[in-house]
Amino acid sequence: MSLESTSVVIFGGTGDLAQRKLVPALFELAYRGRAPENLRIVCFARSDFTSESYREFMWNKVTHKEAWREFARRIHYIRGDLSDPDGLGVLKRGLQELDGGTDAPSNWLFYLSIAPWLFEPALRNMNVHGLADESTGWRRVVIEKPFGNDLASATELDNLVGQVFDESQVYRIDHYLGKHMVQNLLVFRFANAIFEPIWNRNYIDNVQITVAESIAVEDRGSYYNESGVVRDMVQNHMLQLLTLVAMEPPNIADSESLRNKKVEVLQAIRRNSGAEMARNAVRGQYDGYLAERGVPEGSITPTYAALRLFVDNWRWRDVPFYLRTGKAMAEKVSEIVIEFQKPPHSMFPLPSGEAIPSNLLRLSLQPDEGIHLGFQTKSPDIDIASMERTNLEFHYRSAFRDLSIPEDYERLLQDALLGDASLFIRNDHIEEAWKIVDPLIDAWTGLDISPLHIYSCGSWGPDAADALLAQDGRRWRRYN
Ligand code: BG6
Repeated sequence: MSLESTSVVIFGGTGDLAQRKLVPALFELAYRGRAPENLRIVCFARSDFTSESYREFMWNKVTHKEAWREFARRIHYIRGDLSDPDGLGVLKRGLQELDGGTDAPSNWLFYLSIAPWLFEPALRNMNVHGLADESTGWRRVVIEKPFGNDLASATELDNLVGQVFDESQVYRIDHYLGKHMVQNLLVFRFANAIFEPIWNRNYIDNVQITVAESIAVEDRGSYYNESGVVRDMVQNHMLQLLTLVAMEPPNIADSESLRNKKVEVLQAIRRNSGAEMARNAVRGQYDGYLAERGVPEGSITPTYAALRLFVDNWRWRDVPFYLRTGKAMAEKVSEIVIEFQKPPHSMFPLPSGEAIPSNLLRLSLQPDEGIHLGFQTKSPDIDIASMERTNLEFHYRSAFRDLSIPEDYERLLQDALLGDASLFIRNDHIEEAWKIVDPLIDAWTGLDISPLHIYSCGSWGPDAADALLAQDGRRWRRYN
């Protein structure tokens, strides 16, 4: 008897994400022996490809060329239009043919890597053809962001998804959850006894989350201009990171327990009016944004945001969480810095009369995955008070030399194939996240509520973001 097959069906199979990330990630999974044995990839799109020409088209985008030749046989291309009900009929028949008949046991994972306005017709037509029906094997759907444009549209989309799929079949993806250090954050916090007792307002002064990108909007000007930095980065990736830092430990690491704890954090984030949120935030636009292709004249879309948020619960009351993210910044770096409180009393009189600096714990997500703990050290000097901050360092690449870190999409696709939704987002999380950012987005659609700061490309963003922390007597931390 032949093994049942598993097809990953990529809607938008010729798109940028499919080419750069999805197909290479599936190939990598197969190459490492982590994919189901009878895995098949079916790319579905309107462009004029055959399976053969699609395989050739992907040739330049993958590594391990020899293994690719073998793997490429598992890739098929079906041409069709998902907004046309007949288009998905063609797809269904094509899948059944590949599976060996209408009753052949088979699993289908649909990956919606399509423009947001295509979600609706795609889901409706999937419904018409019963593509969620599990009588011959499991059916799952992975949905790419943006999941809605605000709370109202996200709820509407969710209702539609709910008419076609059961929640247990739905995998809403945020690729930041596939980042290795993001997962390590849970292990770091909850598999070590030494950090959790100090992981609270009694010892932590503030938390800083930075996701800086050196690239500008590239060729995504028209998409980006509609979205802006809050929808593109804050509503999803930044709030994901915040929830993982702030969440309570779940009793067990199953998907529902983990996701419950994350949603609780979002529910505790202090809700403010738009005007109040704007007072606790800074918006910026990089110099030259208006000249990007697809960006309309006079656009006020922010490409940078810095925010001060509070999580109103027992653990975090009054500890500021500072978030900043932007395009065209000095470097590509994503990190979380936990700044601890200063020692309450100094027995060492510092020459300048300053207080002893605080300890910094730096969780570096990319590019150099690792953990750095900054602490005071007596410098090799006769003077008793001579001290410097030094670092205890952990780098993934040197600690695990023989193991390569899987790409974000590799990990997440593997989980979706295994049916583990822990690193995917539940509908209530998405809705809570919109409730937090919607007032700020609304406030920022007017020019007058707070200035739009123009910052130079290659900088760390507008000076006003430094002033936001300076108001609290703090500063953005990197190495010291
Ligand atoms: C995407 C955003 O979700 O994340 C992009 O739409 C951004 O604008 C990207 O560039 C950043 O991801 P990473 O993994 O490169 O940090």
